[in-house]
Amino acid sequence: MVKSDSYSKDGKSPIPDRNAIMRWLRETDDAALEKLWSDADVCRKINVGDEIYLRGLIEISNHCVRQCGYCGIRVTRRSLTRYRMTEEEILDCVRQAVRFGYGTVVLQAGEDDGLTRRGITELIKKIKNETTLAITLSLGERSPDDLIAWCEAGADRYLLRIETSNTDLFSKIHPPRPGHQSDISRLDLLKMLRQIGYEIGSGSLIGIPGQSYSDLADDLELYRTLDLDMIGVGPFIPHPETPLGGESDNIALSPDDRSQVPNTELMTYKVVALARLLCPQANIPSTTALATLNQEEGRELGLQRGANVIMPNLTPAQYRRLYDIYPDKACLCETAEQCQIHLENQISAIGRKIGRGPGPRRH
Ligand code: 5AD
Repeated sequence: MVKSDSYSKDGKSPIPDRNAIMRWLRETDDAALEKLWSDADVCRKINVGDEIYLRGLIEISNHCVRQCGYCGIRVTRRSLTRYRMTEEEILDCVRQAVRFGYGTVVLQAGEDDGLTRRGITELIKKIKNETTLAITLSLGERSPDDLIAWCEAGADRYLLRIETSNTDLFSKIHPPRPGHQSDISRLDLLKMLRQIGYEIGSGSLIGIPGQSYSDLADDLELYRTLDLDMIGVGPFIPHPETPLGGESDNIALSPDDRSQVPNTELMTYKVVALARLLCPQANIPSTTALATLNQEEGRELGLQRGANVIMPNLTPAQYRRLYDIYPDKACLCETAEQCQIHLENQISAIGRKIGRGPGPRRH
């Protein structure tokens, strides 16, 4: 349980306790919220500095065996054209990350059995031989043997969002793998990933139908308990071709309407800011889903309310539009070069600087 009387390293930003978390999540007054934004910004500056680290995102495959109720690349979406990038295509994107001065590449995909233990192992070894990049994997729930092999090959970090810590809600929106009775819980997988030697990242979807304020407060407390190295949160954006995509056919899981968390930009900033106060040293991206809700300034506001990482998209244009996890993803039409110039301008406009290299390692 989070203590209210403990203070982060700087001695200034009080670590919010459960009551404070709930109060902030329900706060609607702009003037009052300024205090949360400035506490988070001060905490960010003192603990992780002014550098913004760029992690180049490569969406290497949109094949997925799962049927998550919220996600547009779910297996049952038959109309979606599927792709899996070749090793050479991926290495081209990796070289672009080096040219742009990024310190990390993030290899992300649906849960794709076509991405084999051996294939990913070879890819990791090639990237490590050719570059000094840190490698983050975001490949879903994989077997312990896969995860061990990839760590041994040189992968540094693994991202696996819990999506929600409410296990009933999670099992409704994330059915077990077809043919399996149940999966290892994501919580256990995260603990295993840490034991294997990865830096671990997780996070939630904000505003899933059926998610209550107290569920979200549980998520935030869990980030602290897990001592996450990275925390990525974003608003739930309904995808029309998924079970959770309709206005009226949303599964009404919450017994009390008033306790439903809205999937808004404001709620996402609150969670970013609280995550910073609860986990002062974590790397927290200002996510694409946030930029999608507010193209003009969503990303900057995230960076000014606790975030210190951006994940520019390096996926080739012809694949990017097919990695259709939610509609109207920000930056869809831009080339990697255009995206890069735009980002550099955004970062200097808010008085921050680009961090070089992979960024500090916490554990
Ligand atoms: N809206 C927002 N984020 C989504 N994701 C998947 N579907 C959606 C959606 N409809 C997020 C999940 C997943 C990450 C890769 O993308 O949180 O972990």
